[in-house]
Amino acid sequence: MRALCSRSRMTSMIATVLLADAAMAVPDCLSDDERVRAARFRHDLDRRRFTVGRSLVRTTLAAHYGCQPSAIRFRTGRNDKPEVEPPAGMPPLHFNVSHSGDLVLAGFAPCEIGVDVEQVRDSVDLCNVATEVFSTNEQRALTLTPEAERAPLFFRLWTCREALLKASGAGLSGCSRLRDELDLGLPPADDQVVIVDGRAWRLMSLPFVADHALAVALGDPDVTPDVIFL
Ligand SMILES: CC(C)(COP(=O)(O)OP(=O)(O)OC[C@H]1O[C@@H](n2cnc3c(N)ncnc32)[C@H](O)[C@@H]1OP(=O)(O)O)[C@@H](O)C(=O)NCCC(=O)NCCS
Repeated sequence: MRALCSRSRMTSMIATVLLADAAMAVPDCLSDDERVRAARFRHDLDRRRFTVGRSLVRTTLAAHYGCQPSAIRFRTGRNDKPEVEPPAGMPPLHFNVSHSGDLVLAGFAPCEIGVDVEQVRDSVDLCNVATEVFSTNEQRALTLTPEAERAPLFFRLWTCREALLKASGAGLSGCSRLRDELDLGLPPADDQVVIVDGRAWRLMSLPFVADHALAVALGDPDVTPDVIFL
């Protein structure tokens, strides 16, 4: 895992987004609780995605704080959003994880961050789901989109909205409020600043990777993340 496993302490981290295959080999660094949780998954792919996500988070935070991955402690923030318990006297490094299909996405930043990955699929009734979560203009644009192009656009927009919700820790309850407050357009811009609750967020829709849509939201519009494919 290249520099992620480095024991040398990073002095600062601007922002990094790591994209990994769920099949990648990761160090054995989960806590007892995490092992119990991993063992409960019925499907091997769910277990792999969870294990890879936690390992990426633990190894990256450990490299940042100069400790062992297994020494990293977590706490929960707003709506149970996982956060790091930073070592005494050190500021928290924000992180967020998402998994779907064959991919795991993990983002790290000095400001709030939310990431989302979704495998593009057409097994869902896209237009019906859109009425619940997309603005009126976005719904209209989706309906007018040729059927063959609809699923990629749907998931591009979905991941943007989800990344914003995850960055703010708003969770499910923020979904309908965001629908009424925000019109991202279809397709959403690759990189834009949006205002939610009077606050500016940077929202990036990344290029598709193997039929997966990817998005990142940051609480500081001036922060530009490095995106690294592992
Ligand atoms: C948990 C939630 C944040 C995301 O769930 P999801 O999309 O099914 O799953 P993802 O893979 O993208 O994210 C899961 C990760 O988010 C993190 N997470 C959990 N609660 C969170 C919260 N309140 N805020 C941000 N991140 C959270 C966890 O690290 C979790 O990974 P882990 O279980 O391996 O620790 C939740 O908000 C949700 O169910 N959202 C769906 C809401 C919706 O309908 N959105 C429509 C678009 S507007």
